[in-house]
Order: sequence, then C-alpha cells, then structure tokens
Amino acid sequence: MKNTVSTLLKQKQSGDKITMLTAYDYTTAKIIDECGVNAILIGDSLGMVMLGYENTLPVTMEDMIHHTAAVSRGAENAFIVADMPFMSYQVSVQEAVVNAGRLIKEGGANAVKLEGGAEVCDQIRAIVNASIPVVAHLGLTPQSVNAFGGFKVQGKSLDKAKKLIDDALMIQEAGACAVVLEGIPAKLADIITKKLFIPTIGIGAGNGCDGQVLVYQDMLGLNTGHTAKFVKRFAEVGALMRHGISDYISETKSGVFPSEEHTYAVDDDVINELMKEC
Ligand code: KIV
Repeated sequence: MKNTVSTLLKQKQSGDKITMLTAYDYTTAKIIDECGVNAILIGDSLGMVMLGYENTLPVTMEDMIHHTAAVSRGAENAFIVADMPFMSYQVSVQEAVVNAGRLIKEGGANAVKLEGGAEVCDQIRAIVNASIPVVAHLGLTPQSVNAFGGFKVQGKSLDKAKKLIDDALMIQEAGACAVVLEGIPAKLADIITKKLFIPTIGIGAGNGCDGQVLVYQDMLGLNTGHTAKFVKRFAEVGALMRHGISDYISETKSGVFPSEEHTYAVDDDVINELMKEC
C-alpha cells in the first residue's frame, strides 16, 4: 500500500510510529522500500554522504532531481519526500513554487521538504496551494550552519524554545503536512509534538516525536568519520563491504576467482577447430 500524507496523519492519531530513512539511489531505495519504511527522504545530506561536500550548501536543484528520480524508480510504497536545496526557495515565493514543482514533475517526489519557520511560511502556503505537500524542518537546520556557527543543538534557552514552538505552529497553519525536528532537546520536541496535529519526525529530538528519520549511511555503519550522539548504528555494513572487497582482491590476485562456476563453457569441438586455425 502506498504511503501518503493521510497515512502519516493517521499514524500520528493512532500512535503508530512513522519510520523514515534517507535514500539517494535506485538500489538502496528498493531495499528500504521492500523493508516497509513509511517514507523515504532524498535529503540534501546527499551533498555530504554521496558527493563528499563539507555541508549541504553546494547541493543544486539538478543534483536533487537526479537523485530523487532514481529513488522514485526504486520505491513503490514509501512516501517520497525530496529536499529543496539551499537557495532554491529562499529568494522568492515564485522560485520556490517552480522548484518544488520540478521535484514533483521531474523527480517523481510526493512531497518536498524545506527548512525554516516563520520566514518560509509564504513559500509553504504557495507550494501547498499548488497542490504539493510540504514537510517543514525546524531546529538544527543544516542549511543555516553558517548562521548557527556550526552544527549545534537548538532550542536550549527559553527564548529559543518559545521561538521553535511558535515556528512549529506557524508552519502548521501555513499548511505543512509534517515537520522534521532536528537536534533539539527531547522535552521540547515532546511539547511541540503534543501541540501539533501534524506529525513530527525527529532526528536527535528524542522518542516523543511521532516518528524518526536517520541518514542510512549513519545507521548502517557506512560512515567512518564523526557521527552525532543521536545516531544508532543498527548494522556494520561498511565492515561487511571492506571484508567482501578485500576477499575479491586477494582471490583475483591468487586466481581463485573466477572459478568454473563463474565461467562460461563452450564445446571442445569449437575450441579444437579454432586451435587448428591459430
Ligand atoms: O538532508 C537530510 O538528510 C535531512 C535529514 C537529516 C532530516 O534533512
């Protein structure tokens, strides 16, 4: 069954936790989808985990469309959310609608996600008016890394916590269908989750949220660098890959691979004739 905006809303109402993972390519999207995850996010985190940038800021619309289209071809049932990259929605409401439309038309996404609160409500309203569901993103919003002065937990002071609650209410009022809460104290995320009728999907925001999202490279142990406190490694796929690749190198060098079972045969008569001609 295809997951939709109403599936996620019903999950909030019934207390059935929403599962969301990132994916950026066809093969991974297919595996994640087959496992039954509710939603797949083509995050602009692809700038770091797929393209090797330091942060998400260099990611372009073309990057997002390219990866979103690959994921859409691989995922049948998950609700597909594509990130709007830095500067694709901040400049004007009109540009925001055009770019959101491209992620739906060319990428095959079911919804778009954009970062920010009060300052992006006009964009959210206009995109929703164009019949495109919008997932908002509050808290440690990575596109604001320079403004924050680094990747820091948000909403720890009374003023900042109140601002996040106000922002959450405003993006809901503007028509967002869900909100990602990233890098905020769990107790603040609980309060926001209780105040909203739309689902909250947390990453580094505790287990009081209506759902969780993780970057798949983090939760499968594919990253070797620093991982944030909120990341749980559910498998060590990186170690498995290293093991398999090392075995491939040594078996190829020693001649163990390819063995007969991985080799095509031909009638001896054909080879004998060929040998005569050589
Ligand atoms: O880009 C991304 O992967 C995200 C998640 C971390 C929520 O925005």
